[in-house]
Amino acid sequence: MLVLGIESSCDETAAAVVRDGREILSSVIASQIDMHRPWGGVVPELASREHLEKIDPIVNEALERAEVGLSDIDAIAVTQGPGLIGSLLVGVCYAKALAFSRGIPFVGVNHIEGHVFSVIFENPPIEYPALALIVSGGHTNIFHVPEAGSYKVVSRTRDDAAGEAFDKVSKMLELGYPGGPIIEKLAREGDASLVRFPQAKISDGRPDLSFSGLKTAVSRYIRENNIEQLRDGEQPSQAIKDLAASFQAAAVKALVGTMEKLAVELQPKTLIVAGGVACNLALQSAAEKASNKLGIPVYFPSKHLSTDNAAMIAAAGYFHFQKGSRGELAMTADVTMRLQNLDNEDDVLKKRKVRYRL
Ligand code: KG4
Ligand code: ZN
Repeated sequence: MLVLGIESSCDETAAAVVRDGREILSSVIASQIDMHRPWGGVVPELASREHLEKIDPIVNEALERAEVGLSDIDAIAVTQGPGLIGSLLVGVCYAKALAFSRGIPFVGVNHIEGHVFSVIFENPPIEYPALALIVSGGHTNIFHVPEAGSYKVVSRTRDDAAGEAFDKVSKMLELGYPGGPIIEKLAREGDASLVRFPQAKISDGRPDLSFSGLKTAVSRYIRENNIEQLRDGEQPSQAIKDLAASFQAAAVKALVGTMEKLAVELQPKTLIVAGGVACNLALQSAAEKASNKLGIPVYFPSKHLSTDNAAMIAAAGYFHFQKGSRGELAMTADVTMRLQNLDNEDDVLKKRKVRYRL
């Protein structure tokens, strides 16, 4: 069964053709990073305009590279939300029009669920229950996944997403956009033990995450230590590299530490770490260490599948299509779409008596 995946929730226009939910025949991504770079972040109006221009050629390229035509496609899977409204609408309207005009069934997919499915391509089959840490520029959540397609949020960020924190720290130092890969590269030459940033304390004791305090601590450190922003053509100083390494270490510790504690309580059979930040090698190595300690395998997507792509949307769409889900033409983009179809997150934690402070 061939699924055409379409993704346009933020600043990547992407299309992919995936066979039977696991075999990628093509995956094409048009990134808008260069266009948004001068503004230091995604400009929503520019993003949707660009999606509009790119979506048709990108879908055609995906079909060509897969050496199939639209008549070979059995279903279309499109990101329905969450994301930027203008961006999402381009993908959703395009997919619906294509589906209607060619008589192909379609399904709307939650973008975050797409990230969960991104690990199924290059890893052994996922064993359930699983615990999935989804870390990107827009989202940071840990999901308890008792079986494929069932999700319970067991940890969420109270403020910024982890990727957003990387982007903001990079912006503070005028290092460039997006910040994640830049900070990671600098951190490799820095001393992570130089600044010990505090870990967030969540006062109600929930295993949630918070990155705004860390961001403020970095900003204060920059001010108090007179670390100067980078000027054009200037190489980053050792102080900047040490700061990048220390910030990254604190962020990774918070993410992996929280996942580890939840894994001890919930005893999953698989750990999943996905989303744009998942290609950070410091995060991967800390997650691998935790995985060895816990004796639970951890799966990451490859780099191409970590950041936004349409193969993961096709994979999630295939799963729902197989379960009988079909989109209706009245379906529209859902900016704040949530990924939780099991009861309140408290229940699973109360049952396991999770009582700790971060
Ligand atoms: O999943 P994604 O492509 O888009 C969203 O759904 O948000 O994630 C993009 C985010 C950005 O914040 C970017 O800085 C971060 O992922 N990122 C990284 C790395 N590569 C991308 N963060 C840390 N280390 C990286 N190597
Ligand atoms: Zn994403």
